[in-house]
Amino acid sequence: MTFNQRVAVVTGASSGIGYETSLTLARNGFHTYATMRNLQKSKSITEIANTEKLSLQVVQLDVTDDGSVKDAINRIVAEKKRIEVLVNNAGYGLFGSLEDMSVEEIKKQFETNFFGVIRVTKQVLPVMREQNSGIIVNVSSVGGRIGLPVLSAYHSTKFALEGLSESILYEVEPFGIRVVIIEPGVIRTNIMNSSTAAKKALDPKSPYFKLMQKVKNHFKSNMENEPSSPEEVAKVILQAVMSEYPKLRYTVGTDASRIIQARTNMPDKEFQQIVKDFSI
Ligand SMILES: NC(=O)c1ccc[n+]([C@@H]2O[C@H](COP(=O)([O-])OP(=O)(O)OC[C@H]3O[C@@H](n4cnc5c(N)ncnc54)[C@H](OP(=O)(O)O)[C@@H]3O)[C@@H](O)[C@H]2O)c1
Repeated sequence: MTFNQRVAVVTGASSGIGYETSLTLARNGFHTYATMRNLQKSKSITEIANTEKLSLQVVQLDVTDDGSVKDAINRIVAEKKRIEVLVNNAGYGLFGSLEDMSVEEIKKQFETNFFGVIRVTKQVLPVMREQNSGIIVNVSSVGGRIGLPVLSAYHSTKFALEGLSESILYEVEPFGIRVVIIEPGVIRTNIMNSSTAAKKALDPKSPYFKLMQKVKNHFKSNMENEPSSPEEVAKVILQAVMSEYPKLRYTVGTDASRIIQARTNMPDKEFQQIVKDFSI
């Protein structure tokens, strides 16, 4: 097996971090399956792959759909017999106070950001275990380490993802499988457009309406003023998968390191004041 034949699977490759990670892995010798739920969004990545003669294939995969996940992974295994790298990246944000979000809306958020990861990982694990090697890269967020108002559902999915990753690493390490968590700060992608708001949260009569606008504006301005690029995240993911002994956590962006350091070093009350200062 030559290095060129190592196989990578990326979810949510139609835009942003997943798109750049797929290209970066392909440019660095991985046969990359750039998976996405809507193949109509595959034109741009396919054109780049063709122009650069990259070893990259697009495959349909919706992380919320059991059948789609099974079909995609079965097809990849039938074609290549192995999967060395899985990047669980697909995700979106849900804005809304807890009171304004319906249980259905919260469940939907978990279906993609958390159960989506579980669905794909469970399908890939037997393949990695059989080959006695592999690395699972879970794209969490700084939001997997801190909580913010009107984003409790999103943060809960990322906290859950961190807990999942940190627990399963002990189960899979004896089979040569590594688990890595990526914690980006604000990254210039489509996320603000692809994120949704709970229906009730959009009602100006909601008691949380002002808070919601404030937090949304804060993110919009961060996105415009000091974002990192999705290429930076892709580079860190590449570094992790190429490393003989990858770390459990990688933060991306100076904002991410700054926030996590503050959360770790400050007493709870002091950190809460920082969040209140921009949101309340
Ligand atoms: N951007 C940031 O500031 C930031 C910071 C920290 C963490 N993250 C995390 O990074 C990851 C990627 O987000 P991004 O910033 O690159 O946003 P993005 O540009 O909106 O990309 C999100 C990707 O996820 C896909 N997706 C959503 N639901 C899916 C499903 N059910 N099945 C398959 N794919 C699905 C989207 O597909 P469609 O095109 O079909 O919608 C898209 O390809 C997310 O997990 C996000 O939480 C982002």
